[in-house]
Amino acid sequence: MRLLAALPLLALPLGTAGEPYNTFDGPGFPACNDVAAVKQPSTVDEIQSLVKDAIQAGQQVRASGKAHMWYDTMCSDDPNTVIIQTENVNGIYDLDPEAETVIIEAGVTFLQFSDYLHAKGYNSGFTLVNWNITLAGCVAMGAHRSSIREDSMVAAGVLSLDIIDGEGNLRHLERDDSDEWLAASTSLGLLGVIVRMKFKIYPDFKVYADQKTLDDDEVLDGDIYGMISPYATANFWWWPYKRKFHWRYYDVVPTNTSTQEGFQNTFSVTALEASAIKSLWNSGRWLATSNMLAEEILFGLWSAPNFREKTTNEEITEWPVYGWNYDVLIGGLYPDQQPVWEHGLNGYTLELAFPITQANAVLRRARELFDEESKKGLIMTSTYRSGINIKFGRPYFDLLGQVTYNTSDGADWSKGAIMFDFPSFKPSVGDGSRFNEPFYGRFEKALIEEFPCRPHWTKNTREVFELAKKHLDPDHLARFKAVREKFDPNGIYRSVVGEIIGVF
Ligand SMILES: Cc1cc2nc3c(=O)[nH]c(=O)nc-3n(C[C@H](O)[C@H](O)[C@H](O)COP(=O)(O)OP(=O)(O)OC[C@H]3O[C@@H](n4cnc5c(N)ncnc54)[C@H](O)[C@@H]3O)c2cc1C
Ligand SMILES: *[C@@H]1O[C@H](CO)[C@@H](O)[C@H](O)[C@H]1NC(C)=O
Ligand SMILES: *[C@@H]1O[C@H](CO)[C@@H](O)[C@H](O)[C@H]1NC(C)=O
Ligand SMILES: *[C@@H]1O[C@H](CO)[C@@H](O)[C@H](O)[C@H]1NC(C)=O
Repeated sequence: MRLLAALPLLALPLGTAGEPYNTFDGPGFPACNDVAAVKQPSTVDEIQSLVKDAIQAGQQVRASGKAHMWYDTMCSDDPNTVIIQTENVNGIYDLDPEAETVIIEAGVTFLQFSDYLHAKGYNSGFTLVNWNITLAGCVAMGAHRSSIREDSMVAAGVLSLDIIDGEGNLRHLERDDSDEWLAASTSLGLLGVIVRMKFKIYPDFKVYADQKTLDDDEVLDGDIYGMISPYATANFWWWPYKRKFHWRYYDVVPTNTSTQEGFQNTFSVTALEASAIKSLWNSGRWLATSNMLAEEILFGLWSAPNFREKTTNEEITEWPVYGWNYDVLIGGLYPDQQPVWEHGLNGYTLELAFPITQANAVLRRARELFDEESKKGLIMTSTYRSGINIKFGRPYFDLLGQVTYNTSDGADWSKGAIMFDFPSFKPSVGDGSRFNEPFYGRFEKALIEEFPCRPHWTKNTREVFELAKKHLDPDHLARFKAVREKFDPNGIYRSVVGEIIGVF
C-alpha cells in the first residue's frame, strides 16, 4: 500500500466512462449505475485538487471507501460523476495519550485502525463497525454497532472533522451543538469529502462474549430493554423458521481474567461450506424445504462460538470467550478462509430502526407477517448465515442519524432504538428473485407504514427510502438542507438518498 501511495499516479482510472461502480458484491451490484471515472488519490491535497478539477469540468463527485453498501444509492443518476476512492489516503498520526485522541485520514479502515491502536495499547471503545470498512464512510452514513448502554454510533467517537466542501475548500469542524456539527455528524456525504477526523480512543481492555439460545416467546414477550441495556454491547439473531433467537452479549473484564485471545469470525467460510450452502439456498429459490434445512444447519453452527484462539488459530468451543476488544467484538477473517461474498454468496438487505419502547410490538408484527405466509403454505426462513440481525442503538443527537431524538413524529426515541437488519440471499439461478419475492415488499411496507421508523442509510433500496421519508422530522431536514446549501451550494455531492429525502 505504501509503495502504491508513492507512485506518481494522480489518478488511476479503474473503469472507462459509462461503467457502473460496484459494491463489495462486485459486478451486477452497482453502488452507482454509471460513472465517468474512479480516482485513487494518495493524499488529502490530491483529494482537494481532484475536487477542484471536477468543479472546473462541471462534474459531480462522490467519495467512496470500500463500497461496503448494498444498493445503487451512492451517487445521483448523473453519469458525469467522479468517484474519489479514499483507500490510499490512510494515515494515522498524532496519538495524544493525555487527551486520548488520534487523527485518522479518510481511507483508514477498522482493521487497520484496531491493529494500530492495539499495538500501542489502545482501542476505540464501542464505536465500531465491521472490519474492511472506512471509519469516514461509516461516519458519513451513520453506521453503528449494537448497544444501549454505550455510545456505539461511529460518529459518537469523532471529536473533529475536516471536510472538502463543494467549492473545493477545506473546512475544519469541532464537535459542538451548532447545526453545522449536527449536520456533519451524519452527513450522507452531502457536505463534501470527509478527509480527516480526530477520534476518541481508550487504553486497551479485554472483553468477554457470551451467548444464550432463547425461544421466540422469551424475546417477543420478554423484557427486551432489560436483556440488552445492561451490557456494553448486545444483540439478537433471529431464526424465524426455528422460532429461536441467539442472544449475544459482551462486556469488559479485567485483563487478568483469562489469557485467552479470542478472535471472532464474522463473515468468513471455507470454500466447501460456501458451495454447500449456496446449492441449498439456490434450490431454496423454489423449495422452502431447502431453506428450512439451511436455517437448521446454520442455526446449529451459530450456536457454537464463532471464535478461534488468535495465537494458535485453534477453534474455541466453549462460551464465554475472552480476548482483546476488537478481536472479540468484531475480529475478521480466519487465515484459511474468505468472506462469503468472495464465494458468490451475494445478498440483499433491509434495515429499519424503531423506538425501543416499541420493540416487542415490532417483533410480534414481524412474526405475524412470517406466519401469514406459512398459512398460505409459504414457509419463510432467514437466508443469511447468522440469521436476522436485531441490533440496538443508544440515543445520539444529530439531524439525520438513526438514533436521534426529540423529533416531530412524537415517538419516544429517548430510550434508544431497535434495528431490524434483515439480510437475505440473492439466488444466482432463475431471474435472481428470492423465494416468495413479493413477501419482502409487503413486509417492509407493513413495518414502515405501521411504526415510526428510520432507514439505515446504506442498507435500503430506493423504494424503502421513498416509503420511510415521511417519518423524518421536517425541521431536521430543513436545518440539514440549510447547512448543505452552505457547504455545497451547487450540489456537486448529490446522491439518490439526498434527492429522495428532499435536501436538494
Ligand atoms: C459486511 C458488511 C457489514 C456491515 N456491518 C455494519 C454494521 O454492523 N453496522 C452498520 O451500521 N453498518 C454496517 N455496514 C454498512 C457500512 O458500515 C456502511 O455501508 C458504510 O458506509 C460503508 O463504508 P465504506 O467505507 O465501505 O464506504 P462506501 O460504501 O464506499 O460509501 C458509503 C457511503 O458513504 C459515502 N462516503 C464514503 N466515504 C466518504 C468520505 N470520506 N466522505 C464523505 N462521504 C463518504 C459514499 O459516498 C457513500 O454514499 C456493513 C456493511 C457490510 C458490507
Ligand atoms: C479489504 O479490501 C481490499 C480491497 O479493497 C482487499 O484487497 C483486502 O483483501 C480486504 N481485506 C480483507 C481482510 O478482506
Ligand atoms: C487480577 O488482578 C487484580 C488486581 O490486580 C486482583 O485483585 C485479582 O485477584 C486478579 N484476578 C485474577 C483472576 O488473577
Ligand atoms: C430534547 O427535549 C428536551 C425537552 O424539551 C430538552 O430538555 C432537551 O434539551 C432536548 N435535547 C436536545 C438535544 O435537543
